[in-house]
Amino acid sequence: MANNEELFKKIIAHAKEYGFIFPSSEIYDGMAAVYDYGQWGVELKNNIRSYWWKAMTQWHENIAGLDSAIFMHPAVWKASGHVDAFNDPLIDNKDSKKRYRADVLIEDHIAKIEDKINKEIEKASKRFGEAFDPQQFVSTNPRVLEYTSKIKDISAKYASAMQENDLAAIKRLIEDLEIVCPISGTRNWTDVRQFNLMFSTKIGSVSEESDIIYLRPETAQGIFVNYLNVQKTGRMKIPFGIAQTGKAFRNEIVARQFIFRMREFEQMEMQFFVRPGEELEWFKYWKEERMKWHLSLGTAPEKYRFHDHEKLAHYANAATDIEFEFPFGYKELEGIHSRTDFDLQRHQKFSGKKLQYFDPEINESYVPYVIETSIGLDRMFLAMFSNAYCEQTLDDGSVRVVLGLPRMLAPVKAAILPLVKKDGMPEKAREIMDMLKYEFNLIYEEKDAIGKRYRRQDAIGTPYCITVDSQTLEDNTVTVRERDTMQQERLPVANLEKYILEGIKPVLQSPSLKF
Ligand code: GAP
Repeated sequence: MANNEELFKKIIAHAKEYGFIFPSSEIYDGMAAVYDYGQWGVELKNNIRSYWWKAMTQWHENIAGLDSAIFMHPAVWKASGHVDAFNDPLIDNKDSKKRYRADVLIEDHIAKIEDKINKEIEKASKRFGEAFDPQQFVSTNPRVLEYTSKIKDISAKYASAMQENDLAAIKRLIEDLEIVCPISGTRNWTDVRQFNLMFSTKIGSVSEESDIIYLRPETAQGIFVNYLNVQKTGRMKIPFGIAQTGKAFRNEIVARQFIFRMREFEQMEMQFFVRPGEELEWFKYWKEERMKWHLSLGTAPEKYRFHDHEKLAHYANAATDIEFEFPFGYKELEGIHSRTDFDLQRHQKFSGKKLQYFDPEINESYVPYVIETSIGLDRMFLAMFSNAYCEQTLDDGSVRVVLGLPRMLAPVKAAILPLVKKDGMPEKAREIMDMLKYEFNLIYEEKDAIGKRYRRQDAIGTPYCITVDSQTLEDNTVTVRERDTMQQERLPVANLEKYILEGIKPVLQSPSLKF
């Protein structure tokens, strides 16, 4: 198999070639970090969103849905802290005129040192063979120790500069590390300055400062400002949750890794409102619950890991990321945060409206604490798509590209294929299609040899190919070919619906899964 960078390029090319993802405005040469979802991409994305939505609102009686507007009162973003603190530190190279995130330049520098450590480990592992103990090697080898201490030193300096908001210290660090611009190769840097990630626009016809509004950088604030509306009209009792999916916008400076970091993307967020003092129990609950959701899709557990935050944001008292092993390494897929009552208290203060909940069980009013689960829909798409892409060498030496998506997420659940374009087979195939199309997204194909048609379905991840042949006309049975095993079995047409429904159910990993 190709190395990871090559593999990632192939995945991006496959996404385009098979109608999953196109660069936005491609005929005008595209736009960085903005993408369009094609005919199969939109189906896969809808299926992921719908599975998340069901898991939240349908399988939990105490979670309600919401669809709040993208535009919100500008004071929302003042209260949430986004106007003052939703910033990235930026630096420009004066020669190439390229702009970089200062933190990313430093992170990349650290990654290079980590690469050196990995090379030392690889070399030593070859030299010592089976007797090699990597733990002992990294804790004793002088060169590795030197690299490790360098990384610690850089990380500590960087963290302290960020904490103090000391932009001059960040620039000094970039200079001391002799980081050069990857384009010009020079160290001719501007000062570091803060850059707010929110997109702004004007509302109304008169352009005045007070008319500035923002495209929401997260969906969560729409939930916070509506929490009492939902609680009262839905007569919700704490603990309860509100779930929402929708677009979010961030003026990301470093646009790379395909749909991993986009300027326009979609989030699936849920805020769970709890009694103060019970939040850490609920944090633990949601941490486990969310991991179960991921594993219920059947993806190998080793692809996921938790990354608990040691340094917490000032408003959080616990936080973890669910990381996924993307082709470029383990990266954040979802965040789970115990956000205390920070957001609701801020909105209470800025709006002047009471946001308290009266708890009849304890006869007390309070501002609830909140556990947030927040996952990027596009990132989940990339996780599923990149993990599914597989080049498989068959017994006859040929290579097939198969997209082994979780069956329930596959854009098309079955292809209906008349073996030949005559003898009544197309008509019979259409009849089967009509019977199943209310339940499943199907595709009908009669062009090309059957083997070629199977390959096309493999490439878009269709779990089942249903072939109508001459025997079908005699006994009303069809062959069903399964995507991953390529095994075929003969089934009565009347059993197809049940068979496919059974095949696309979530893979339950744990008996405690409440779905
Ligand atoms: N309300 C909390 C919040 O927005 P976040 O960590 O900034 O937290 C949550 O974002 C999730 O949204 C991330 O885990 C990621 O999956 C997704 N996300 C964030 N920025 C993104 C971007 N620029 N492109 C794609 N997905 C993004």
